[in-house]
Order: sequence, then C-alpha cells, then structure tokens
Amino acid sequence: MKTQTLAQDRLRWINLDLDLPKIDDGSDVIQGLTQTPKTLPCKYFYDDRGSELFEQITDLPEYYPTRTEQSILETYVSEIIALTGACELIELGSGSSRKTHTLLTAYSQLEDPLHYYPIDVSAGILRSTALDLLATYPQLNVCGVAGTYERALAQLPPRIIENRMLMFLGSTMGNLDDRSRDIFLNQVQQALQPGEFFLLGVDLQKPIDILEAAYNDVQGVTAAFNLNVLHHLNDRFDGNFNLDNFAHLAFFNPTASQIEMHLKSSIDQTVKLKALDLEISLKFGETIHTEISRKFNLPTLTDTLTAHALQPLKIWTDPQSWFGLILCQRQCLLSNDCP
Ligand code: AVJ
Repeated sequence: MKTQTLAQDRLRWINLDLDLPKIDDGSDVIQGLTQTPKTLPCKYFYDDRGSELFEQITDLPEYYPTRTEQSILETYVSEIIALTGACELIELGSGSSRKTHTLLTAYSQLEDPLHYYPIDVSAGILRSTALDLLATYPQLNVCGVAGTYERALAQLPPRIIENRMLMFLGSTMGNLDDRSRDIFLNQVQQALQPGEFFLLGVDLQKPIDILEAAYNDVQGVTAAFNLNVLHHLNDRFDGNFNLDNFAHLAFFNPTASQIEMHLKSSIDQTVKLKALDLEISLKFGETIHTEISRKFNLPTLTDTLTAHALQPLKIWTDPQSWFGLILCQRQCLLSNDCP
C-alpha cells in the first residue's frame, strides 16, 4: 500500500509579527502626511483590493515587466539550476504563483525533497499560495514566513539543506530609494552564507514613452490602484478621503531614473483620519507622493551588488533588454566569515 504524505505535514508557519502588534500603528502615515511634500509608504497599496488591482495590472497590455520577467525565467531556468544545484528557495514577496511554478517545477526535477519559504506581510496570501503549491508538488515542503522582509531576513529558520537561494523578483527592489536599498542589500548579504545565491529581477531603463505608458494604462487600472491607497487609509484609520477629489499622476523622472506616482488634490481640502487623530490640509494642485519605481542600469547595479559582496554570476535579459534577471553569489568578506 502506498503511503501518502498529508499536505499539512509538509506545511509550517512562522509568524514574526504576532509579538509586534504595533508594527502598523500608522505612525508612518502621520509622518508622511505631515511633511512637505507629502508622502505615503507604498506598502499601503496592498490591502486585498490593492493586491487584486496589482494582479490586474500585471495583465495589462502596457505593463510589460511581469510577462517579460516570466519569459526570461522560462527561457533560462535550466541555466539557473545548473549554476546553483539543489537549494532551499526563499522568496521575498510570494506574489503571483506563475513564476514560482516555473522555478519549483524545474527544481523538483533535481532533488527530492524540495523546500520553499515564501515571505510576505500578508498571511492570507501566504496561506493560499502554500495550499495551492502543496497540492501541486507532492515532494514540496513549505514554511511560510509572515512578516516584513527585514524581520524575516534576520530570523530565517535553520537550514535543512546547506544551500540557499534568496529570490527577489518583479523589480520590487525598484520601490526602494538609495538608502533603503543599501540597507536591504546588507540584510541579504547577512542572511546568506558565502557561496549561496541571490536571484534578483529588475526593470531596466528604456524609452520614456514605453515607461510612462506602463503606469498610465488606458483602462485606468493603475489610476485605480494609486487612488485605492486612500480607500485603504479610510478603512484602516477611519478616514474621510474623497477619491473624487484626487487625480492619478505618473511620470518618469530622468534625473533619478524612476517612475514616480503621485495623487494630486483637485481642490483645496481638509481630510481627517480619526483613528490617528490626524487632520491634514491640501491645497489645489498639491500632491501626495505614493511610489517610486526605479529603472536600473545593469553596469551600475552590478557595481552596487558587488559592493555588497553579492557577485553577479550571470545576467539574463529579454531580446529588447527591457528587464534583467541577475543571479548573484554571496562572496566571502575579507574580515571573518570564510574558512
Ligand atoms: C510591484 C513595485 C514592481 O513598480 O512597477 C505597478 C508596482 N505600481 N504599477 C512597479 C506598480 C504601479 C510595481 N512593483
């Protein structure tokens, strides 16, 4: 008789934010909305509705990054595997399952069992991803880590296989400014042992009209995604933002090489967020800066990664060089951590 491993025996959870209920106390919202110019952290895009709108964005004809990255991954996944060998797969932001399937299908041909650690701030997304994957891959073990990237990277569970690959796809790193990216790459370096791997997907510089169209789609899904942040704040902090009094604004800033998204007030107005005891005024035409999305240059990024002891081993792009996939290997530091 054949023994079947039950899906729940292959599933573990780590919840890093249970002991930190105040992590989302809204202090970052107060800080952003009381400074000049006003800003909001882009994590507030991703309530359930925002996550759903982002999924819709990835299917838009103008939004090339998701499908371009997917095609690079499908074309070169066997090369990636040949370079890393068997390893535990750790994914920051579990995101759409399509790219994960491409990797898991390929790695499952290599070695049995397979270990996958999705990391996400949304426990709901983690749960549905995990259950879906466990049903598809009989040899898969999933350990879902609910928490911020910072906390998860600092507290990863001990290795079962002595080789890991950390994955950060979808150009999510483009949301970080220089300083935050620096801190993040240091955390990646510290989470990995020398010889282990970091797989990074990044959106690249390209003609402005293509970049701006991707964030100003004709169906208005990106506008709805941007405006939804106000809806999310209303829900979460008992606010009275009227979405009709704001307009979506997205443009390329060539100096910083980034798309910027803003919400522009179309009248003089006052808005309250009762739960935060906050009242703010906006002038006609005043903006709230909601997101940056960096467009990288591969030679510069290669230098940045190398400076963080993450040595690019191989870089793959699509035929138009619109998107890049970089496999880095964690180097020894001069100081201490190598035999
Ligand atoms: C998920 C951060 C990579 O910057 O392109 C899509 C988010 N914002 N449309 C991006 C986004 C507007 C996306 N990232």
